[in-house]
Amino acid sequence: MTRRFAIPVGITATGQHYPDRIVTNEDFAAYLDTSDEWITTRTGIKERHWVAPGEAASDLGAKALQMALEKRGIGPSDLDVIIVCTVTPDMMFPSTAALIQHKIGAEGVYGYDMNAACSSFLFGLTSAASLVASGAVKRVALVGSDIMSSIADKSDRNTVVLFGDGAGAVIVEQVEEGLGILDFEHYLDGTGAPLLYMQGGGSLHPTTHETVDKKMHYIYQNGQEVFKHAVKGMADVSRLMIDRNGIDPADLKLFVAHQANIRIIEAAARRLALPAERVALNITHYANTTSATIPTALHQSLEKGLLKKGELTIFAAFGAGFTCGATLIRWAY
Ligand code: ACO
Repeated sequence: MTRRFAIPVGITATGQHYPDRIVTNEDFAAYLDTSDEWITTRTGIKERHWVAPGEAASDLGAKALQMALEKRGIGPSDLDVIIVCTVTPDMMFPSTAALIQHKIGAEGVYGYDMNAACSSFLFGLTSAASLVASGAVKRVALVGSDIMSSIADKSDRNTVVLFGDGAGAVIVEQVEEGLGILDFEHYLDGTGAPLLYMQGGGSLHPTTHETVDKKMHYIYQNGQEVFKHAVKGMADVSRLMIDRNGIDPADLKLFVAHQANIRIIEAAARRLALPAERVALNITHYANTTSATIPTALHQSLEKGLLKKGELTIFAAFGAGFTCGATLIRWAY
């Protein structure tokens, strides 16, 4: 059975923001035992943007949201809720949503953060759409912003090359009948927790000299296991969207997958028999920006005219938890 909202809800505008500083593969090769050739062939990544000291998730998120508001032609006070997806909030509390609300001058707008790791934006889209579909709120801003450079061990070639900083934002509201989110499916499998995590600084391992010495404030992952689960997870749940809704894959205009590794995206797309020109890719220049990969890849695809009103798109994500999901959308504008 499809999971459909009681009223048609969709995305009506997008925005993005990246910090200025570009870190290339050669920059890593200058001090780590790695090479542009290894990183490019194994991940598809050439460069990524990293923040300057003092720049945080709320700075990037506020700018991305301001762009989305401008594109929609509305002001901050036209919002009802701000939901921020992030695994790298500015601080433990207050929420990054509170900081963004203040930065964009959205007085009177409530909001909160949520975290489903790399699937945050997808799960967040469902939360935002549910609020709108409830009839209780009219317009939700959904922001995905992550500063992965803040939790990547700069001396670990296995992880540091994979991640970038960035933010994407969308406006979610009621759309025309027949358009917007048509179906979604989300999964959470806590048995995957030991394969991808950051332990330090939480309530289990509060920050001490020891947690810092043991490098517990950095991302840990079993890359090969995550890789396998990600390909199967994103392909299977996307296939479910296609089958459950009786869609001919040839009618799918754009596949917007979480950008963790070009080989994961290509393998998932192959399983869905999708040609390269229908697969959104921004990992080459921005790497894995966690909560920001889907909204930024979407924004860039829209700017290139790759998705138009009435056309079908699937968003798919896989991340720590494990979390996994897909959302089927008939584009609303
Ligand atoms: N440069 C050179 N060599 C490297 C590098 C590097 N940057 N990184 C790893 N290597 C080495 C390894 O040390 C290993 O050497 P060894 O055989 O001597 O031990 C060798 O390359 C092969 O390593 P593999 O792990 O087999 O390489 P693989 O082809 O699997 O690629 C990668 C590794 C890129 C991490 C891949 O497994 C991957 O993308 N996994 C999924 C990552 C992911 O999706 N993470 C989730 C996102 S995080 C989040 O949700 C917040």
